[in-house]
Amino acid sequence: MDGLIDREKTAERLLAASAKHSFDPDTELDWEAPFEEGTYFWPPELVSLYDTPLWKRLSPEQRIELSRHETASLCSIGVWFEMILMQLLLRHTYDLDPTSGHVRYALTEIADECRHSKMFARVVTKMDTPAYRPTRLDLQLGRAMKTISTTPGAFTGTLLAEEILDWMQRLTFPDERVQPLVRGITRIHVVEEARHIRYAREELRRQMATAPRWEIEFTRLSSAQAARVVARSLISPQAYASVGLDPEHAAEVARRSPHRREIMRQSAKRLMDFLDEVGLLRGPSRRLWRASGLLA
Ligand SMILES: [Fe+2]
Ligand SMILES: [Fe+2]
Repeated sequence: MDGLIDREKTAERLLAASAKHSFDPDTELDWEAPFEEGTYFWPPELVSLYDTPLWKRLSPEQRIELSRHETASLCSIGVWFEMILMQLLLRHTYDLDPTSGHVRYALTEIADECRHSKMFARVVTKMDTPAYRPTRLDLQLGRAMKTISTTPGAFTGTLLAEEILDWMQRLTFPDERVQPLVRGITRIHVVEEARHIRYAREELRRQMATAPRWEIEFTRLSSAQAARVVARSLISPQAYASVGLDPEHAAEVARRSPHRREIMRQSAKRLMDFLDEVGLLRGPSRRLWRASGLLA
């Protein structure tokens, strides 16, 4: 019972914060301003090939061009993640009381994600790149996971997508080397996602305390698999092809890059500590978590 009282308290706080700090990206940002010459689209250290032999061979213009395509990949794949999250959240509310704060907040969060997805799609259009898509396999895995996911699995999946990108975006919005429009979208996203992360973490903690054993075991394995899909989908190999690199070779270089591996681990560090604390990294799943490259 205490859990449910806490749940309502959290929801009311999040609803009040949403009422105060929500943004309409269409009016909040200057979409007409042209991109600045010679300015990165993403902090170079967060570009997947940074510090590799391939990166060292690229001219300054090519590096900026790669940052444009990688940002487009993160935004397009971000829309894919958000569409999955919206469905998971809607499924979570299906048999709950619609007048509860918990459900009203879930609907508020879905409304946030609708604005975000439109914002990401609009920036991809503006960057004039392809709309990068996950591989066919990952697209199908995503479809399966959002259909069969347990409730704790839904919130773990949500946190995987949200916290890794959040970590990168917190470095991006204050960075003066980055295009103002990209700084604007990451600032809006960081502010609104902080609430989503809080909601998902608290709900996951409650779910893990009461879930039956089989559900916890299944969630450990399926979430570890989801972590692999999330990590490998962020940068589409087609983004490398767009700047004239061999996509398979460049993807392999990024995968092996010590700098990139460190960035991926750092981006997930706080989340991995939390998932460990609530008991999701135990047992045979731990090897799979490691294979995702997110767990040291
Ligand atoms: Fe979002
Ligand atoms: Fe979110």
